[in-house]
Amino acid sequence: MSSDLVWSKLQELLAEGVQSFKDAKDEDALTHAQKRFLGRKGSVQAYMQHMKELAPEERPKLGALVNEVRTKLEKTFADVEQKIRDAKLAADLKQRKVDLTLPGRTPTLGAEHPLQKTQRQIEDIFLQMGFEIAQGPQSEWDYFNFEALNFPADHPARDMQDTLMLENGSLLRTHTSPVQVRTMLCYEPPIRIIAPGTVYRRDDDVTHSPMFHQIEGLHIEKGLNLTHLRGILELFAQSLFGKNTKIRLRPSFFPFTEPSVEVDIACIFCGQKGCRLCKQTGWIEILGAGMVDPNVLREGHIDPEIWSGWAFGVGIERVAMLLHGISDIRLFFESDLRFLKQFA
Ligand code: PHE
Repeated sequence: MSSDLVWSKLQELLAEGVQSFKDAKDEDALTHAQKRFLGRKGSVQAYMQHMKELAPEERPKLGALVNEVRTKLEKTFADVEQKIRDAKLAADLKQRKVDLTLPGRTPTLGAEHPLQKTQRQIEDIFLQMGFEIAQGPQSEWDYFNFEALNFPADHPARDMQDTLMLENGSLLRTHTSPVQVRTMLCYEPPIRIIAPGTVYRRDDDVTHSPMFHQIEGLHIEKGLNLTHLRGILELFAQSLFGKNTKIRLRPSFFPFTEPSVEVDIACIFCGQKGCRLCKQTGWIEILGAGMVDPNVLREGHIDPEIWSGWAFGVGIERVAMLLHGISDIRLFFESDLRFLKQFA
């Protein structure tokens, strides 16, 4: 074939292709035409086969011509494709009936759960005092939950009654205190941490839930004593319950603190006149605390001759119930929106 003939045939092909694209009424027809002319086995590409028949000096010309035709066809294809899409969109919009009088959908806003809110409130108080947040696992080893905390082997709290055991020999932690020794093993003193988290006990009534939440506090420094603990806890109680809140410390017992105390706040419901909630005593218990037992410091590889520490553990549900006057702990876990919405 001579190059002139090829050229005129290519012109015909171009005209034919442009016409086919323009005739295409929808995307299917257009795709079909595209395959026919521009596909890998399409008629434009087929012209390259004539390459061999041409004199060597004519070959580049053929290549250029084929490319030119292809570019023009591609342009036409793109134009037609756009036109078909525009028409489709216009038709779609035309048949849609928009009722502008329909009321809009109000987006529902989520809110923090009251326990989460209380936890954050408590965290903020301690973060401002320079404490950091530490965490530990909910499935815990007996070692961290009891043994490292100086629980004698036959201590009643180890009974199956309180502790939910797991099949692999570990347990669901019964308090956040295991985070104490875990933290001591990870960081050098001085240590100032709070450890919020979920804890579990086999216990279930209006004020006890088998799953509940605590925040542990731990401060290790040189020369700490009970007055430091008292000062921080008083500030804590006053930040939560009001500037004039009084606290008192009563002697108590925990295996991992010595001395141990139970901390009460002056009854916020009756102003200490005596009511049902403070059982006519004028005081309400809010947490357990004490000076970290030297044995516990040793388990945490901290020398009790150099360092001393205090610790406390507070129940988040308990604080939330006091703050909001809630009398049944189960309300927190029932997901009843009538209850939860009051805290949004
Ligand atoms: N872990 C104790 C409890 O759950 C509370 C506590 C923490 C007491 C730290 C003293 C020091 O009852």
